[in-house]
Amino acid sequence: MKHLLKLMDLSTAEITEILNLADQLKYEKKNGIKHHILEGKTLGLIFEKSSTRTRVSFEVGMYDLGGSALFLSSRDLQIGRGEPVEDTARVLSRYLDGIMIRTFAQEEVEALANYGSIPIINGLTDYCHPCQVLADLMTIREHKGVIKGNKLCYIGDGNNMTNSLIVGGIKMGMSVAVACPKGYEPDAEIMKWASENGDFLCTDNVLEAAKDADVLYTDVWASMGQEAEAEERKKIFKGYQINSEVMSVAHSDAMVLHCLPAHREEEITAEVFEAHADEIFDEAENRLHAQKAVLVKCIS
Ligand code: CP
Ligand code: NVA
Repeated sequence: MKHLLKLMDLSTAEITEILNLADQLKYEKKNGIKHHILEGKTLGLIFEKSSTRTRVSFEVGMYDLGGSALFLSSRDLQIGRGEPVEDTARVLSRYLDGIMIRTFAQEEVEALANYGSIPIINGLTDYCHPCQVLADLMTIREHKGVIKGNKLCYIGDGNNMTNSLIVGGIKMGMSVAVACPKGYEPDAEIMKWASENGDFLCTDNVLEAAKDADVLYTDVWASMGQEAEAEERKKIFKGYQINSEVMSVAHSDAMVLHCLPAHREEEITAEVFEAHADEIFDEAENRLHAQKAVLVKCIS
């Protein structure tokens, strides 16, 4: 695997291989088995948006694998002052062994991959969040035993998370139902692909989407970059929430996931969040293990 730009680029077999390696790396870390797979390798971490989980899990992941990581904030890089991404890509390719980038436009990530000569990993764009969904799939398999055949229900904004969850869920044989307010649906091409390649539903009816779900998922109503719309979005998204009523129509053993950060009493009630905290924080932990698998596949 050269890059991780979006999940659409990966086959079902490649996703499964990443998840298998992630499980192995998790087991080995818990048992104190050390690795030197990325010894002498350096990963640059470019952040044009905030992060807790992505930054820390990539830094620790590189350290665990014997390599090192460089945190590069766009506030300090010349890219933040307008140096073209095409030039940044060619310069950084001379110093680094890989780049993880979190930014706004998916095109910027694709341009880094096209102009640079080193592996590029997408750490979130407005379009998708592939690293998060690899950790989500790992967590679903850990808790449910299998991924295939489970029904995944996403409630909320049709955003970067939704786009990646649809692609990852359908590729791994889940049935996927999304509930979003009208006008806030996921990417149209992804929805078309999902309808042609699996069992997919997009509705504005939360209870219809949640019916008989095995996994319920939500994310913030206003993503990074949408801060100015936050108050308006609170009105539009009211009711697009995982709460006890939604849980009552899902399967009784349904799990709840959230990529975090969470806004309690907006997209999820505090009660449901705390009842499923073990699953949600396993999911956050699995960012580390899933990304280490991606790093091994891309950089070693
Ligand atoms: N879920 C996620 O990507 O978290 P951060 O924004 O903290 O990296
Ligand atoms: N949709 C959220 C995900 C954060 C991990 C955002 O883009 O801010």
